[in-house]
Amino acid sequence: MKAILTNGYGGTDVLYLGEHPEPVPKENEVKVRIKATALNRADLLQRQGLYPPPPGATSIIGLEMAGVIEEVGSQVQNWKIGDRVFSLLPGGGYAEKVTVPADLLMPTPVELSDVEGAAIAETYLTAYLNLVWIGGLTNEKTVLVHAGASGVGTSAIQLIKQMGARSIVTVRSREKAEFCRSLGADVVLIGKEGFSEEILNLTDNHGVDLILDCVGASYWQDNLKSISMGGKLIVIGVMGGGNVENVPLMELIKRRISIVGSSLRSQPEEEKINLSQEFARTMLPHFKTGNLRTVVDRVFNWEDVQEAHTYMERNENIGKIILKVFS
Ligand SMILES: NC(=O)c1ccc[n+]([C@@H]2O[C@H](COP(=O)([O-])OP(=O)(O)OC[C@H]3O[C@@H](n4cnc5c(N)ncnc54)[C@H](OP(=O)(O)O)[C@@H]3O)[C@@H](O)[C@H]2O)c1
Repeated sequence: MKAILTNGYGGTDVLYLGEHPEPVPKENEVKVRIKATALNRADLLQRQGLYPPPPGATSIIGLEMAGVIEEVGSQVQNWKIGDRVFSLLPGGGYAEKVTVPADLLMPTPVELSDVEGAAIAETYLTAYLNLVWIGGLTNEKTVLVHAGASGVGTSAIQLIKQMGARSIVTVRSREKAEFCRSLGADVVLIGKEGFSEEILNLTDNHGVDLILDCVGASYWQDNLKSISMGGKLIVIGVMGGGNVENVPLMELIKRRISIVGSSLRSQPEEEKINLSQEFARTMLPHFKTGNLRTVVDRVFNWEDVQEAHTYMERNENIGKIILKVFS
């Protein structure tokens, strides 16, 4: 099969379209002909050799896909050849074909194209895992989401709204702020360090219950000042740096603050299956009604993968960048 492969680690020029042996499904797996896959920040890191795939996963980049089932393993009962599906992957999305545990798959709603299907799994399940499972989101909570116009941010804003909670998001441009408002964000701050003052004003000095943080070090001080008594800071990325100094442990104790690190990719397969099935049951119906939607910024032909990576590195996208896989 064809796949986007890497020639060592480094810049976008290490990516090329080449040939790779086709995967063979195990008895509890299906083989999917991929129609579309999506970029994630982790792909950029993996390309540079900074984020290796988990043990046992293919070295082909790509954390999600949408496509059509082409072959089913002997023990698979709930899917058939021709079904349209999408899912998380531990890797292997930048390819014509991939094998996936049958229980990890979700049905692509008929109302959605394959491009839209490819734009759901990674960002929505990241948002769902962190807001609902880890954060215990309820309609009484206020959540601060950084990088609101990112793939994860646009999903988080919509899930928070869907669950009746209040969102405050940060972005770094006016255009992105407008977009987040149109998605249903309650308050949008054009972000820079120093946002904690506005957060305290907006919350009667209580602070927010949850912070979904993909920025890390550069927002650390403001995050600590912005969080409420008993609040939770969920760290999912370090785009603004990964090391902080002066961690005020006594402050954490006095204000009962939890700091949680979280990674979807390294969750055990069983947990990813539980998460996907719960999401399919509770949230997928809202994609049919339009209450939840995919946010697709640009669709690239997969031969233009280098250009797509450069585009993400420039922080220009609002929502997802898709690669269309042509066989
Ligand atoms: N832990 C997990 O399980 C998990 C899973 C998926 C994603 N993530 C993380 O979630 C984050 C978003 O991923 P994505 O794929 O949705 O990204 P994305 O769509 O590429 O969006 C990233 C956006 O973050 C903002 N940004 C970049 N550098 C920043 C900085 N130093 N300070 C503040 N904002 C910055 C930029 O928007 P502005 O123009 O608004 O600044 C950029 O467009 C990444 O950190 C990724 O690693 C974690």
